[in-house]
Amino acid sequence: MKYRHAATISLLCLNLGAAYAEEGHDHHGHVPATDNRAVLKLTPDERMMILEEMRLFLDGVQKMTYSLSKQDMQAAADAARNMGQKMVHEVPPALRAKLPQEFRQLGATVHGSFDQMAMDAETLQDVSHTLNQLSATLKNCASCHATYQIQGPVLTNNH
Ligand code: HEC
Repeated sequence: MKYRHAATISLLCLNLGAAYAEEGHDHHGHVPATDNRAVLKLTPDERMMILEEMRLFLDGVQKMTYSLSKQDMQAAADAARNMGQKMVHEVPPALRAKLPQEFRQLGATVHGSFDQMAMDAETLQDVSHTLNQLSATLKNCASCHATYQIQGPVLTNNH
């Protein structure tokens, strides 16, 4: 019994080894996958500003989901409103000018949808409705992340 167990394990190892070898062959060694997303060339300060806003987004989404799980619609609305148009005014014009129009549009759509979520959460008091809106907005987060990357001098000088 013990013996058979050992044999199974070694067979598994062989299979993994084969899969690994094949992968290495397909990709010609350890060349990292290319990142084909459009590059936003920003200064380190500008990059930090965007990433800070992003972390506020993630933080806000966490607060919203927590509030919704407690059916606390006012707290959910407050968290949503903090991610609305309110956030946009803090972007300096110099940075705003560097961002492509599609990027700004997608950003504006996301901010606007959080304002809508805040209003609906207060008036409709419907957890499912707000969750549904949040899910639709998260698709926009994902689609922007799939399209853009940020590179400042810190990153580009490495190559
Ligand atoms: C208009 C474009 C856009 C939208 C919309 C957007 N992001 Fe981002 N986000 C970015 C870019 C660009 C980066 C940097 C990615 C990179 O350089 O690899 C980023 C990075 C992040 C990061 C990493 C932060 C860090 O410190 O490294 C988090 C977290 C994040 N976004 C969360 C979100 C969430 C949550 C949403 C939606 C509520 C969202 N983002 C919407 C463009 C966007």
